[in-house]
Amino acid sequence: MGAAANGIEVEGLVREFKKGPRAVDGIDLTVSPGEIYGFLGPNGAGKSTTVLVLTTLLPPTAGTARVAGFDVATQGGSVRTVIGAALQEAALDPFLTGRDHMKLQGALHGLRRAEREARGEELLARIGLSEAGDRKVKAYSGGMKRRLDLALALVHRPRVLFLDEPTTGLDPQSRSALWQEVGRLAKEEGVTVFLTTQYLEEADVLADRVGIIDHGRIVAEGTPAELKAQIGRPSVEAVPADPDDR
Ligand SMILES: Nc1ncnc2c1ncn2[C@@H]1O[C@H](COP(=O)(O)OP(=O)(O)OP(=O)(O)O)[C@@H](O)[C@H]1O
Ligand SMILES: [Mg+2]
Repeated sequence: MGAAANGIEVEGLVREFKKGPRAVDGIDLTVSPGEIYGFLGPNGAGKSTTVLVLTTLLPPTAGTARVAGFDVATQGGSVRTVIGAALQEAALDPFLTGRDHMKLQGALHGLRRAEREARGEELLARIGLSEAGDRKVKAYSGGMKRRLDLALALVHRPRVLFLDEPTTGLDPQSRSALWQEVGRLAKEEGVTVFLTTQYLEEADVLADRVGIIDHGRIVAEGTPAELKAQIGRPSVEAVPADPDDR
């Protein structure tokens, strides 16, 4: 099965801000169906901008990106039906409960009332928020909000899931619970996962393959083992993915 089916294909992607940098400066990458791809990089590297373009929330300046076979620039509606996204800035309403959020999200995706409730309960249970489901989000901890955000992204059973720094600010226990759930989604449900992180450890535990992004460019790519072997060398060499840059 090619990447077109459920994967991600990015070629020469550029996103330039009018009064800002070339946040994404010509990246190429492919994520296979069911694969977990870790996008690792420091603050300002271009991780969130890439995610925003791949989720159709920002148009690319140049290049192409296809998600589950659909072009993000020209087939945005189709892309949005097959993806789920938990973005860096979680868009939760502090005055609604977790359960309210799940119902609204179900309605937004056109689920019928009975299905909406069943799916909401199933996901709240899976992320450990059944008990807290009737509390308003303003009373949730950071970790509870991140987990609710993940559950919201899963309501419509997306084939491709985007997670932007899903575990930043979580305690080690919540972090490993989230890792487990993301791993399960990929392994058992075949969901393709594109996950950004600043933690090498997270990429190491979760990702099948990792791309390291810096200043809008992919400076290294490989399995976690391959990258660790590189980093283990006395001097770390960032090999540009584009041969022209070598
Ligand atoms: N709306 C915007 N207008 C102008 N510049 C922007 C905008 N959004 C991001 N940038 C700039 O683009 C670059 C990449 O930002 P981006 O948010 O993609 O980085 P990031 O890798 O997600 O960082 P972090 O780890 O801090 O979330 C940064 O230099 C940032 O200041
Ligand atoms: Mg970011």
